Amino acid sequence: MVFLLMALMMNMIGSSSSSLNVGFYGSTCPSVEAIVRKTVNTAIAQNRGIGAGLIRLHFHDCFVRGCDGSVLLDSTPGNTAEKDSPPNLSLRGFEVIDQAKAMIEAKCPQTVSCSDILAFAARDSAAILSGGGISYSVPSGRRDGTVSNQNEALLNLPPPTLDVQQLQSSFSSKGLSLDEMVTLSGAHSIGVSHCSSFSNRLYSFNSTYPQDPSMDRGFAAFLKTKCPYGGNDAETTVPLDVVSPNRLDVRYYKNLRNHKGLFTSDQSLWSDPSTAYMVKDYANNRAGWAAKFGAAMVRMGSIQVLTGNHGEIRMNCMMVN
Ligand code: HEM
Ligand SMILES: *[C@@H]1O[C@H](CO)[C@@H](O)[C@H](O)[C@H]1NC(C)=O
Ligand SMILES: *[C@@H]1O[C@H](CO)[C@@H](O)[C@H](O)[C@H]1NC(C)=O
Repeated sequence: MVFLLMALMMNMIGSSSSSLNVGFYGSTCPSVEAIVRKTVNTAIAQNRGIGAGLIRLHFHDCFVRGCDGSVLLDSTPGNTAEKDSPPNLSLRGFEVIDQAKAMIEAKCPQTVSCSDILAFAARDSAAILSGGGISYSVPSGRRDGTVSNQNEALLNLPPPTLDVQQLQSSFSSKGLSLDEMVTLSGAHSIGVSHCSSFSNRLYSFNSTYPQDPSMDRGFAAFLKTKCPYGGNDAETTVPLDVVSPNRLDVRYYKNLRNHKGLFTSDQSLWSDPSTAYMVKDYANNRAGWAAKFGAAMVRMGSIQVLTGNHGEIRMNCMMVN
C-alpha cells in the first residue's frame, strides 16, 4: 500500500514535465536559445571546465526545491542560501547565467526565467563537451522560486559516500529511476573534484583496509600524490575522469570497470550487481548512452517545476524581485 502510494507520487512528480513545452518562448522571445548557446559557447571556449560547472548547477538546482533557479540566489541578511552550503564547494558557471540573463533582459524584459536559462545552458554544455553526440530539446516554461536555503541543499543533495541503495532512494525521492541515476552519473566523465570528496577512500578506510579495496592501487597511489594525508588544502582539484577530463562520454563507465571511479558513489555502480550490468552496457554503447543521457536530463529538468502563475520571472538571477 505504502509502496503503491509512493509509486503514484513519483509518477506525479515525473509527469509534471507535461506542463513544460519545447519552444515555450517561440513568440515571446524567439532568440533566447540562440543567445544562451552563444554565451555558453564563448565561455567554454575560454574554459572547458565551465561546461561541467553548468551541468552540475542544473543538477543542484533541480534536486533542491525543483528546477526553480534557487541555486542561483545569493544569501541575504538573515538567510544563508543554497550556494553557501557545504555541497556548493566548487559550484561554478554562475557568471555565464548572469551574462546570458543580462542580454535576454535587454531583448525581452521580464519574460525568460533564470531556471530555463540554466536548463538551456546545461543542454548546450552537454552538446559541446560531447562533441555533438548529446543533443536534445529542452522543454521550457519554468518559473523562478523565491526561496533558497542552505539546509535544504544538505538534505537533498546526495553525498559522494552513498552506496547504490542510498543513491536509488535519493533519486527516487525526485521521481527518477535507478536506470536514470546510472545514466546521469555519466556526467562525472567531465569536471573536477576537491580532495575532501574522496580522501576517505585513500586513508584509514576501515579497521581492515587502510584504503578502499574497490579502488585500483595505481589510481589510489596517483590520488595520494595529489591529496596527501592530513593535507587540508582546499584548492587542489583532481579530474573526475583522469583519462578524458574534458569529454562527456562513456569513458566514465570504462573507468568504473577498471576500478578507477573517484567517489564511493561512482565505484558502487560497478560493485553492485543491480547496476553493474548497466555500467557494462553503457561502456560499450556510446550512442545508446548519449540518447538516454539527453532523455534523463529532460526528466531531471522537470522535477517539481513551477509553471503558470506560480513563482516569478526573476529580473536578476541572484535575487528575488
Ligand atoms: C549520483 C549522485 C551524485 C553524487 C554523489 C555527486 C557528487 C559530486 C561531487 C562530490 C562532486 C565534486 C565536488 C567537489 O569536491 O568539488 C561532483 C562534481 C560534479 N558532478 Fe556530481 N554527483 C552526483 C550526480 C551528478 C549528476 C546527476 C550530475 C549531472 C547530471 C552531476 C554532475 C557533476 C559534474 C559535471 C561535476 C564536476 C563539476 C565541476 O567540475 O565544476 N553529478 N559531484
Ligand atoms: C560556498 O560556501 C562557502 C561557505 O560554506 C562560501 O565561503 C563560498 O563563497 C561559497 N561558494 C560559492 C561559489 O558560492
Ligand atoms: C571494510 O571494507 C570492506 C570493503 O568495503 C568491507 O568488505 C569490510 O566488511 C569492511 N570491514 C569493516 C571492519 O568494516
